[in-house]
Amino acid sequence: MSNQVRGVHVTRHGAAPELVRTTAPVAGPGTAVVATTAAPITPLDVLCASGTSYFGEPALPYVPGVQGVGTVVSSPEHAPGTRVWFPTSAGMAPGDGSLAERVLVADADLVPLAADVPDTVVAALGLSAVAAWMSLTWRGRLVAGETVLVLGAGGVVGQVAVQAARLLGAGSVHAVCRSDRAARTASAAGADSVTRLRDDDADELAARIRRSVGGSVDLVIDPLCGIPGTAAALCLAPHGRLVNLGSSAGATATYSSATLRGGSQSILGYTNNALTPDLRRGALDALLDHAAAGDLSVEHDVVPLDGLPAAWQSQADGTNERRYVVSFA
Ligand SMILES: NC(=O)c1ccc[n+]([C@@H]2O[C@H](COP(=O)([O-])OP(=O)(O)OC[C@H]3O[C@@H](n4cnc5c(N)ncnc54)[C@H](OP(=O)(O)O)[C@@H]3O)[C@@H](O)[C@H]2O)c1
Repeated sequence: MSNQVRGVHVTRHGAAPELVRTTAPVAGPGTAVVATTAAPITPLDVLCASGTSYFGEPALPYVPGVQGVGTVVSSPEHAPGTRVWFPTSAGMAPGDGSLAERVLVADADLVPLAADVPDTVVAALGLSAVAAWMSLTWRGRLVAGETVLVLGAGGVVGQVAVQAARLLGAGSVHAVCRSDRAARTASAAGADSVTRLRDDDADELAARIRRSVGGSVDLVIDPLCGIPGTAAALCLAPHGRLVNLGSSAGATATYSSATLRGGSQSILGYTNNALTPDLRRGALDALLDHAAAGDLSVEHDVVPLDGLPAAWQSQADGTNERRYVVSFA
């Protein structure tokens, strides 16, 4: 039997990966081999492959893909055929990722999937959904009845944050969006109001957000930083929290010491990389239960493996309209 499998390799930093045939991995102590069925292309995948992330330049070539869904081929703990979600460190540490037909994964990181949710939908949600959920709960400590503001609410993190905030009992959920598409998506996800980004400065944007929301906000979920992050911090209520988890709009935001001190407010950072496997599993289980119940979804486009290089380029150019999920079926 051939030990060759289909996948992609990043061969040049900043370039779309190339379709290749590679040697199937073999499980060693503490590791499992998984047959990938679906894996998303995320901003983190593209950032790591560009060589400009804070993890540094990954050695080339490597298989990208920081997460996926599949079935166990061999594992010390899980029966062959078990359906699982899995993370990888591809692009952040040496080793290959999910965008190949077979993947080597730390056995302790496998999350068996019980919920009746299609593999492509699980892949679309994945770590972006985990980040939104944990930013609201673990980091942001959302309390029922509070007002939540979600920046970049048309993205996957944003769509999940809007829906999850509601499911967790927020009093109202408001969105800040750049494009028409993102504004439509945030409204469809259930945002009570949408403030559109324009070329105004942080003070003007903060004033428009306060008008849309009808006052201040208790919790901000911020994947953008930059001017939107600065403006959102100006809208925090006393004891308000801003959880930053990305910097799509700028590497820095500014905060007034007097405002933070006076209001006992908190600016918090979030990374999925700080989660233990148990915390990650708990978040994913909760999210997939809501997805199975029809309460949670994200917009996505499914592409075959042959379509991956073009889809990756579109994600890198920012011309994609939705999350791409690669299907290996
Ligand atoms: N810390 C963590 O653990 C963690 C986990 C997951 C994601 N993230 C980060 O969170 C961010 C969002 O992730 P995602 O999965 O939601 O990505 P996504 O689905 O690609 O969505 C990105 C969203 O950000 C908006 N956006 C991009 N550039 C912008 C800019 N310059 N100004 C204003 N809006 C902008 C886009 O708006 P348009 O649709 O209008 O273009 C889109 O709605 C990324 O930076 C990602 O790396 C962090």
